[in-house]
Parts: sequence; structure tokens; C-alpha cells
Amino acid sequence: MIIAIDGASGTGKSTISKLVAKELDLSYIDTGAIYRSVAFAVKKDAIDLNDEQALKVLCSSLPIKFEFIDGVNKVFLGELDISEAIRTPEMSMLASKVSALPIVRSSLLEMQRRLAKTTSKKGAILDGRDIGTVVFPDAEAKIFLTASDATRAKRRYEELVSKGITVDYDTILKETIARDKQDSQRTLAPLKKASDAVHIDTDGLNIEQVKEKILKIVKERT
Ligand code: DC
Repeated sequence: MIIAIDGASGTGKSTISKLVAKELDLSYIDTGAIYRSVAFAVKKDAIDLNDEQALKVLCSSLPIKFEFIDGVNKVFLGELDISEAIRTPEMSMLASKVSALPIVRSSLLEMQRRLAKTTSKKGAILDGRDIGTVVFPDAEAKIFLTASDATRAKRRYEELVSKGITVDYDTILKETIARDKQDSQRTLAPLKKASDAVHIDTDGLNIEQVKEKILKIVKERT
């Protein structure tokens, strides 16, 4: 079973996907973390974004690993734990930038499909921007989450502050709007609701309420 959860940043995708994965015994694949890992490696290795060959080599041999350690989802690049380092505002913007490059998207497409298909669990829940439209157009259930700019920026702000990252709310609001504009307006696999996805506006709903709505949709469709 494949469940696709798409939406802009701060719509609650990852929090909700983790809860649904736990409830339904599915593996959780955070596809944004894959693009963030590419951004991290691009910066670390000083790769030029115009160097298609270098990007292709990087993406096709990206040593990314997801591990669930002591109840926390961790992301490793080789042996390096990059779980926190990829969450900074700088990495958010760079991930959005690299994700618009055709060579990056085509190189990562198969990896996402393989990660989902090789799970030992009952299936996978993937969150991202193009899961229902491009990565798994045949997913059993597709959800498209939205929330107002203010709600999304507030969630991002609180998430970063809780991790000890010093940020200013107005800057986060501006960055959230700019990043989502970039993700929605790119030519390739833009953030978009699949025609058969169910739209959930999360404004005014708590996590539990969104989770229950998704579980109901999955039950109806599987
Ligand atoms: O979900 P996130 O905020 O961690 O994602 C970081 C960036 O990665 C996002 O701004 C756009 C890109 N992304 C994408 O293009 N396609 C996906 N399926 C997931 C993320």
C-alpha cells in the first residue's frame, strides 16, 4: 500500500505522516529530507549547480540512510548524522533550489520508488510535493494538505525554536512564502494537488483531527 501526502511547508505533512505510518504499520519516507541531503552535499562539496555531471554522480550515489533510533527518525549521509543540519532555513532554501533542477529530480525519482517498494512493512507513506502527481500516480490514497501562510510560518517558527535554532518570525514568514512560490511555480513536478487527491485544509484542525481524517480516507480507499 502506498499513501501519498503532498503539501507546502508547514502544512503538518511530516508530523501527520509519522503518526499514520505508526498506526498502519507503514514505513515513512520523508522525500523532502532526500532533497535536503542533496543540498547539504552540494554545499559540503562546493558543487556548482550548473555542473550537471557532478549533480548526476552525487544523486545517483547519494549514501542516504533513514533510521529510526530511540523513537526518532534520523537521516544519515554515509556515517554522518545530518538530521539536524538539514533543517536550517539555509538548507530549506537550497533544497528548494536544487529540487527545481531536472537532473536532480530525474536522478532521485527511482530512489524514492525503490525505497517505498523495498520496505519490510505493509507499505509506505511518503510525504513531499509531487508524490501523488509524479512519484506514485497510482498510490492507493492521496492527500493534499493546505494551511494559511500565517499558520504554516508559525509551525515552522515553533519547530525551529524548539530545536534551539534562533530565528525571527517575520523572516520565516517571508522565507516560507518565497519557498512555496518557488516549489509551486517550477516547471518540473511543481507542488500541485493530484486530480484524485483529497484536499484537507488543516487550519483550525489539530494533529489528531487531521490524522483521523486521513485514516478514514485510507480505510475507504483500500
Ligand atoms: O518537505 P521539505 O520542506 O523538507 O522539502 C524541502 C524542499 O525539497 C522543498 O522546498 C521542495 C523539495 N521537495 C520536492 O521538490 N519534492 C518533494 N517530493 C519533496 C521536497
